[in-house]
Amino acid sequence: MGTTPLRTHTCNELNAAHIGQTVRLAGWVNSCRDLGGMVFIDLRDREGVTQLFLDPAAAADLMPAVRRIREEFVVGIEGLVRPRPANMVNRERATGAIEVEVKKLDILNAARPMPFNLDDPAVGEDLRLKYRYLDMRRSGLVQNLRLRHRITKIVRDALDHQGFVEVETPILSKSTPEGARDYLVPSRVHPGSFYALPQAPQQYKQLLMVGGLERYFQVARCFRDEDLRADRQPEFTQIDLEMSFVDVDDIIAVIEDMIARVMKGVHGLDLQTPFPRLTYAEAMDRYGSDKPDTRFAMELVHLGDCLAASDFRVFQETLAGGGVVKAICAKGQGGASRKQIDAWTETAKLFGAKGLAWMKLADEGLSGGISKFLSPAEQAAVVARLGAEAGDLILVVADQTKVANAALGRLRLDLAAAADLIPKGVYNFLWVVDFPLLDFDAESGRYVAVHHPFTRPHDADLGKLDTDPGAIRAKAYDVVLNGVELGGGSIRIHEADLQQKMFAALGISAEEAQLRFGHLLEAFSFGAPPHGGIALGLDRFAMLLIGAPSIRDVIAFPKTAKASCLMTDSPSTVDQSQLDELHIASTATEADQAE
Ligand code: AMO
Ligand code: AMP
Repeated sequence: MGTTPLRTHTCNELNAAHIGQTVRLAGWVNSCRDLGGMVFIDLRDREGVTQLFLDPAAAADLMPAVRRIREEFVVGIEGLVRPRPANMVNRERATGAIEVEVKKLDILNAARPMPFNLDDPAVGEDLRLKYRYLDMRRSGLVQNLRLRHRITKIVRDALDHQGFVEVETPILSKSTPEGARDYLVPSRVHPGSFYALPQAPQQYKQLLMVGGLERYFQVARCFRDEDLRADRQPEFTQIDLEMSFVDVDDIIAVIEDMIARVMKGVHGLDLQTPFPRLTYAEAMDRYGSDKPDTRFAMELVHLGDCLAASDFRVFQETLAGGGVVKAICAKGQGGASRKQIDAWTETAKLFGAKGLAWMKLADEGLSGGISKFLSPAEQAAVVARLGAEAGDLILVVADQTKVANAALGRLRLDLAAAADLIPKGVYNFLWVVDFPLLDFDAESGRYVAVHHPFTRPHDADLGKLDTDPGAIRAKAYDVVLNGVELGGGSIRIHEADLQQKMFAALGISAEEAQLRFGHLLEAFSFGAPPHGGIALGLDRFAMLLIGAPSIRDVIAFPKTAKASCLMTDSPSTVDQSQLDELHIASTATEADQAE
C-alpha cells in the first residue's frame, strides 16, 4: 500500500464520530463470515476488534483475496466508516456502532491453521505454553503484560521521585551457601570454577551502600533452583531496593508510598496508609500464618483456660504438657458432613496434628463431636469465647503451639474458600514485623537464618546471640497482600564483627565465612553505613492485581512446574565439544535423561 501508513487508527478506536471517514486498519483476522450477499470480517489488533464489511457484488475485485482469508491471517485494509443498522449495534464493543466498508485489501501475511482453538479455555496449558506466542493473541496475556508494564513504570517513577538510583548488578555472580539451590554456570576461562546466577542482588546492593550510593533500586531478575508452585518460578523478578541511614519505619514508608501509587495508577484505589502491622508472634497466634489473609475473620482463639478441667483427656494432657488448645469458628458451616469433617481432619494431620475435634452449634446448644465431654459451663464459655452462633462449626486442635497454629491456619484458609467467605476486589496490605532471627533446623542440628544471614537483630536482643539464639527478634519485615507474601526485607548488620558473630551462630566457620563472604566482611571494615532494604516479587504483585491464578499468567515466557520451556525446548543437551571446552563431563545416564 505504498508509502501511506499501514494504519490510521487502531481496531478499538472508531465510533460514530468517524462515520464518513476513509481509514486504514491492520491486524489479525478474528473471524470471517461469508453470508453470500455480505462478508463480515472481525479484524483484531492489541487494542480491540473492528467489524469490516464487504459487498461481494460491489467489491468483486477484492473477492479472490477475501476468499483466501483464514483465521489469524494478517491483513491491511482501507475503507469507509459507516454506521451499523440500528439492530446490529454491538454495545459490548467500543467499535460496536460502526463497521468499515472495505475498499482496498492486502493480505500482509498468511497463517497456517492454528494448532489449537485459541478461544477454547479447555485447551491444556502445555499446548498453550508450546505455542505461547499464539496463546498470547487471545488469552488476555498481552493485556496482562501491559498491566505489568504499568506497574513497573509507576514503581520506577515512584522510586526515582524518592531519590533512588536504578543500578544493574551482575548476573554472573558467586555461589553462597545460604538460601535456595543455585543455578551454576561453568567458567571456560577458569576450568573447574563456576559462577552462580544470583538468587537476589543482596550482597551487591549492600556493597552499593558501602560505596555511598545511599538509595539503590533495581527491577532485578533472580534465579532459584527450587521446587515450583503456582506463585514460584525458577527465574522471577524483584523490585529490589536498599537504603542507607535508615531504620525499619523509613523503609516501610517508602514501600507504602510506592504501593499506594501503584494501586492508584492501576486500579484507581486510594489505599489507606500506614498499613496495619502485626508482629510475627501476633500473626502466628491469631492467624496461624506469617502471611495472614485478613479479608475475612475466623481468627484462631485460645480455649485452654475454658477447657483445662474438661473430661476430654487430650485437652488436659496437652495443656499439662505445655501445649495449647485452640479453635476456629467456621461461620455457617454447621451443616458440614461427616465426610467433609474427616477431610479437614486429614488436612490437620498433614500439619502434624494428632486429630481435629469438632462441635456444631444449633439453637439448642452444642452438639456432636466432643460436645458431650464438656460441662454446660464449659460449653457456655467456649461459645462465648468464640462468639459462635447457631449454625456455626467449631474446630479444635490441642497440640504444641507450632502444630496447632499450622493446622488451624491452613484450615482457616480452606474453610473460608469452601464457604466463599473471601470478598472479591479487596486488597488487604499489611506488614508482619519482628520475625525471629534464627530458626533451629532439627535435621542439620543447627540454627538457620529465617530471612538471610545479613539481617540485623533487635538491639535489645543482641545479648542473646550466645545465650538464647532462638529468642532473638530480627529487624525483618514482610509485606503481605491478601495472604500472599509480596515482599520481605530487613535492616542489615553493617559491622564486620557482628556479621562474623552471626555467621558463627549459623554454624558457618570463620574459614568458610572468609571464603564465601570475605569480600563483604572486608567491605564492612571500611566504614559501612547503617542500611537496610527490601525486595517485592513483581510477578506476584502483578498476579494479585490482575487476579490471575498463577504467576505464569503475568510472565511472557514462563517455565513449567518441571522448570522447562516447552516453546524453546529448554533445558537441552549440548554438543560434546561445548562440554569439553568447559571441562565438564556429564554423569547423567539415559534413564536420568528420560525422566
Ligand atoms: P526474599 O527471598 O524474601 O528476599 O524474596 C523477596 C520476594 O521475592 C518473591 N519471590 C519469588 N517470586 C517468584 N518466584 C520465586 N521463586 C520467588 N522467590 C521469592 C516473593 C518474595 O517476597 N534479598 C532479599 C530481600 C531483602 O532482604 O532486601 C530477598 O530476596 O514475593
Ligand atoms: P480419639 O480419642 O483419638 O478417637 O479422638 C476423638 C476425637 O478427638 C477425634 O475427632 C479426634 O480427631 C480428636 N482429637 C484427637 N486428638 C486431638 C488433638 N490433639 N486435638 C484435637 N482433637 C483431637
